[in-house]
Amino acid sequence: MEILATTVWGMERLSMEEVKELTGRAAEMEHKGLIRTSGNEEDLLVLNHLSRSLHRILMLIMRDEFSSLSELYDKARAIDFSSYLAPELSFAVRAERIGSHNFRSMDIEREVGQAVIDSYRSATGFRLRVNLDDPDVIIRVEVRHNTFWLALDTTGKDSLYKRSYRVYKHPAPLNPCLAHCLLRLSKWTGSKSLLDPMCGSGTICIEAARWANGIPNRGDYALWHLTFLNHQRLKHLLVAMESVIRHEKLKIRGCDISDKHIEGARRNTERAGVMVDYFRCDATKIPLDSDVIVCNPPYGLRVGSRRKVKRLYAAFIENLARSDWERAVLITSNPQLMPVKSNLVEVQRLAVMYGNLPCTVLVMERA
Ligand SMILES: C[S@@+](CC[C@H](N)C(=O)[O-])C[C@H]1O[C@@H](n2cnc3c(N)ncnc32)[C@H](O)[C@@H]1O
Repeated sequence: MEILATTVWGMERLSMEEVKELTGRAAEMEHKGLIRTSGNEEDLLVLNHLSRSLHRILMLIMRDEFSSLSELYDKARAIDFSSYLAPELSFAVRAERIGSHNFRSMDIEREVGQAVIDSYRSATGFRLRVNLDDPDVIIRVEVRHNTFWLALDTTGKDSLYKRSYRVYKHPAPLNPCLAHCLLRLSKWTGSKSLLDPMCGSGTICIEAARWANGIPNRGDYALWHLTFLNHQRLKHLLVAMESVIRHEKLKIRGCDISDKHIEGARRNTERAGVMVDYFRCDATKIPLDSDVIVCNPPYGLRVGSRRKVKRLYAAFIENLARSDWERAVLITSNPQLMPVKSNLVEVQRLAVMYGNLPCTVLVMERA
């Protein structure tokens, strides 16, 4: 089967690398924020359960061209949805549209939704239930100009980036999937020491510890509603994945200037079932001595003003330049406020979108 996976805009290469590691299968970029790979039902579970950079795992049903909404209806109507959905399940269609059309995403959802109902009724005599708020299964449609794809969302209502450990809510939290991508860029492995000197609620440290210990995602994936999959085989695989979870304490440290955030990071870390050392610090003053530094400083939007952020960046980069580390990865929406230092070499610069906010990831090494 063809599998599509949504990911952080700008981090597709790292997600493709992750897919290859988890399933052994090559992945390619479909477009920004979306990659594709091939696989079987076990791969659907592996990617939902163990991927850290992916948002959603979709099982492709159809990919085609079309020229009008009624043609889209006809193509969707030709799919036998009774082979995918059991009659007791509710469904919803969610559509995204890119290009200039004389219809809206809502119209796509309505037409394809009707096509699903009609196809199901003609195959089984049964009218499938629509539930727009809390469907058991989401059918995703993406229209790009005159092409479309239609897929079953095997992840479900909540994207994989919603991690269940977030009991403390920071005002400017990092997307955990993006945090994972920063860790990949940092070349951190469990044997190296890691420091996040502005850790907030601890996302980067927690993601590192979860990754190194093989701790999986939530488990409540929509694929458990898809009865055409072999659940007995999937449950065996689940047991095998759970059996390799470790609970090792690694050299991971996080610090923040705020006691409140440190306390919150500790709560999140405990909930995540991992161990991280936290302490209060001023990241412009403590020695940043660690093999790897990964950091998400304030952008001056939700936390701190632009002027303060400029001063903070200047002092932080000074401190970075005099500290002892191998590789540092920083993410900011204000890279122009980061001063250049002669003994810091920028080895990579990536553009990413964090929600609607364009951000830059800077990867640095020492000269
Ligand atoms: C964008 S937030 C980090 C959010 C974090 N990545 C998360 O997911 O929760 C930036 C953090 O930097 C901290 N901070 C600001 N100035 C600092 C300084 N001089 N030293 C240490 N931490 C600082 C803030 O308290 C804030 O929690």
